[in-house]
Amino acid sequence: MHIQTDRSNVLVLGAGGAGLRAAIAARESGADVVVVGKRGRRDAHTVIAAGGINAALGTRDPEDSWEQHFADTFREGYLLSHPRVVEIMAREAPEAVLQLADWGCAFARLPDGRLDQRYFGAHTYRRTCYAGDETGREIIRTLADWAEAAGVRFADRHYASSLLVADGRCFGAFVFDLHTAERTAFLADATIVCTGGHTSLWHRNTSRADENWGEGMSLALRAGCRLMDMEFVQFHPTGLVAPEDVAGTLVTEAVRGEGGRLFNSRGERFMERYDPARMELSTRDRVALANYTEILAGRGGPNGGVFLDISHRGSDYIREKLPRMYKQLLAFQGLDISKDPMEVAPTAHYSMGGIAVEPETHATDLERLFAAGECASGLHGANRLGGNSLVDILVFGRRAGAAAAGLREARPVDPPPGVIEAASADLDGLAKPGKGSGREIRRRLRELMWEKAGVVRDEVRLSAGLGELKELRSSFEEAGPEGNDRLALARTLDLRAGLETAEATFRAALVRAETRGCHNRSDHPGLDQTLVANSYVRRAPDGSLEVETRPVPPIPQGLRTWAVTELVEETSEHLLE
Ligand code: FUM
Repeated sequence: MHIQTDRSNVLVLGAGGAGLRAAIAARESGADVVVVGKRGRRDAHTVIAAGGINAALGTRDPEDSWEQHFADTFREGYLLSHPRVVEIMAREAPEAVLQLADWGCAFARLPDGRLDQRYFGAHTYRRTCYAGDETGREIIRTLADWAEAAGVRFADRHYASSLLVADGRCFGAFVFDLHTAERTAFLADATIVCTGGHTSLWHRNTSRADENWGEGMSLALRAGCRLMDMEFVQFHPTGLVAPEDVAGTLVTEAVRGEGGRLFNSRGERFMERYDPARMELSTRDRVALANYTEILAGRGGPNGGVFLDISHRGSDYIREKLPRMYKQLLAFQGLDISKDPMEVAPTAHYSMGGIAVEPETHATDLERLFAAGECASGLHGANRLGGNSLVDILVFGRRAGAAAAGLREARPVDPPPGVIEAASADLDGLAKPGKGSGREIRRRLRELMWEKAGVVRDEVRLSAGLGELKELRSSFEEAGPEGNDRLALARTLDLRAGLETAEATFRAALVRAETRGCHNRSDHPGLDQTLVANSYVRRAPDGSLEVETRPVPPIPQGLRTWAVTELVEETSEHLLE
């Protein structure tokens, strides 16, 4: 089959917020940049992000500071975040958000023109800027406009099936067109993976069907990079429970930020029992576990959820602050949330682990390969604060893009002979007819993750899950592509990535024999202080996955006087060494 070639200085895989921000930064540094995206450039997964983006601007609460943002994020990540990554995020967030506003992002403003800020769970102050409940979509619109104006090139609806790697260096990626099936070797001086997380693996999740299968994580793992903290998968406390075809869809945390209250079927405001100080604005791991516990105890509603009520805020307020939620519930359930409560339950929402990266530039273990956004790791630890993912993509997208642009070569350097051909042969292998149905493997995988690696886990279920996964992987090896339409190969690649990142998740979850943040081990209910450490999964030469743990690096000297110190002293002194 004919293989085309595209050459650029910087190749970005993924057209979500991190990818677009990286592309703009690389372009502004003088690089020729191309962005490859599975969907249209204004329709990547970031559009699902609803409630807001954090920056310590102090608009509503002048006492706020970037140091407090650092402290909140680090503490609520249960000490597993990389301290320097958190520091960079918190320091650079205000400038990143204000710059986006300057670029035309229509954030809500106060009458004096300053950006408004709302409450989000477990932030000491109001620091979440927002555009109604369509913040992600507005950010994507702004970044796409800006990237186009800057001269970034786009390959929309293209799929990257492998990284082109030789001699410990990345030369770009092998890509095919989802419409025409044409194959192109995108050769680049540096490549940035910005392909999102792996939460589509869970039966109920907040993604659309073709997103978040761990595609970039799997590419990086196969190319020799490590994945960090894969056991930490955030279940958003509030996903829709009905009708079945939209179950899992996000009900934004902004509902609680704007005053929404959770009740069980007895009418009890049950968060009083789980976190009386913070109630519904507790951390996501605590609220998700509370919802899960109430439902399991039989105190849920008719569709297996608990009730989220914002009706006391009144119709005008709700339509102004939560327009998407208002329309969504009317459309899906005929429910007017200004009159009646919603029924909600935990749904897989965000991968806090991902490709291991160096803090400053998000360079990976592989020369000339970077990663940013949800597919990367280091910021969120064991529990992500809502609103930190959107600022993550701006801050580290920009840093990765600038660093990648700095690696431009005076003359193109091609991969050695055979590398591109091997990538093409890999696709040929996946396209061959086989036994069994990929669709059935996918269905079983999603059930498996939901049942064996869900909100609450234990060794028995995790080990059984790993065993079943092995069977699914063998079935996958024998199966042909999933269907015969033009997206069949993409689905097959998604599934391959999903099976691999599922195994990384199970293996890391088994090693973490403690309860920390979103990782609830019913057989190990407490924190284990020896596990103030990150887990790393790597692919051995025979293709098997190995796990090791390494201590979290110490907190930078200048940040030790802050709120984390007391907590750290009680738990893990090595962080202060
Ligand atoms: O609930 C939400 O609006 C989601 C925000 C986030 O994941 O940061």
